[in-house]
Amino acid sequence: MQSNTNTIDDDVKVPSKAAAQVYHWASNVLDKLKRGITPPHLHVLELLDGHKVTQCLCVAMRLGVADQLNDGPKACADMARALDVNPDALYRVMRLLASKQVFKELPDRRFELTPAAAMLRTGVKGSLRAWAGLTEQTWGTWEYLIDSLRTGQPMFEKVFGMPIFDYYAKHPEKSELFDQAMAELSRPIAKAIVMSYAFSGIDRLVDVGGGDGSLLSVILRAHPRMKATLLEGPWAAERARRSIDAAGLGERCEVVAGDFFASVPAGGDAYLLKNVLHDWNDERALALLASCHRAMKQGARLLIVELIIPPGNEPFIGKIVDIQMLLATGGRERTKEEYEALLDQAGFRIRRAVPTAFPMSVIEAVRT
Ligand SMILES: C[S@@+](CC[C@H](N)C(=O)[O-])C[C@H]1O[C@@H](n2cnc3c(N)ncnc32)[C@H](O)[C@@H]1O
Repeated sequence: MQSNTNTIDDDVKVPSKAAAQVYHWASNVLDKLKRGITPPHLHVLELLDGHKVTQCLCVAMRLGVADQLNDGPKACADMARALDVNPDALYRVMRLLASKQVFKELPDRRFELTPAAAMLRTGVKGSLRAWAGLTEQTWGTWEYLIDSLRTGQPMFEKVFGMPIFDYYAKHPEKSELFDQAMAELSRPIAKAIVMSYAFSGIDRLVDVGGGDGSLLSVILRAHPRMKATLLEGPWAAERARRSIDAAGLGERCEVVAGDFFASVPAGGDAYLLKNVLHDWNDERALALLASCHRAMKQGARLLIVELIIPPGNEPFIGKIVDIQMLLATGGRERTKEEYEALLDQAGFRIRRAVPTAFPMSVIEAVRT
């Protein structure tokens, strides 16, 4: 029987595009079925409870509950003792999470890991602990969503006193958490990108706002002759340099600290922007695209990796991330038409949008 997963690298498994399509189709059908039989008041009550489950999950992550279960099932009271928390309160949080298939309750108030709970462990492949930390870190901005609705402005500054990347420049430990969280998301997606998009013909790739280099490392490993430049803000560039060196790719990748609104390194055959344009409103996105345009020679490719909002009522993770962007940076997720219009205004033409096994697509554009 053919496997439903392809493994490009040693660790993270990525479903094939066909398997991913079946999964999305089936989960949409099941979701519609469930909605069809759920009375509307229960439907709304369930939606109103979403943030309560999120907070239980974040707190379980912060405490390191899943690490307690590394060696097998354990009594909740023993975990509470080890974590120095109230055993009854911990039991109630665990019971709720078990009802969401995160952890499994066994007789005598013992718990064990489920595949989802395994993602909450520290230092394991596929861990989402930093992502949970970032979710908690930006939690406060959601309280001011109503103000974002009234003004159209982000709320990060209201809560943290300054715009998000200025804050990271001043708070290295928070900036590191952000990098780790982005890397946790990027690693599996990186493999899906490499499986879906042909990087052939690209001798030098410039990763603009490349984070800690997780994506670039996967691409460079898959393309042994490729060289790269990673551009990051000064608050993150040194960490990127260290992680690229640690991946043994220092010889093939230079790291440049700078401001991508001012300039982007010239000489690339392709310029990669993953989860970067979505950080910015159209005005800032156009300024960033203008920097890329100035740096790019004729024929160079612009590769934008983003969640493209589909038309219609389907559930799509980008519709949630979109609101997070509104609150955090004033950025947005965009539809295909919105990308076409934005890129057209910036002097680019979309050649194609390549879907991946994950909800992200690679938009390939060239200068007009
Ligand atoms: C959402 S993250 C995406 C990181 C990475 N591309 C990924 O997908 O994992 C956006 C990145 O842009 C960087 N950035 C923000 N403003 C910048 C600026 N003015 N110049 C250079 N990099 C910047 C941030 O430090 C951050 O790493």
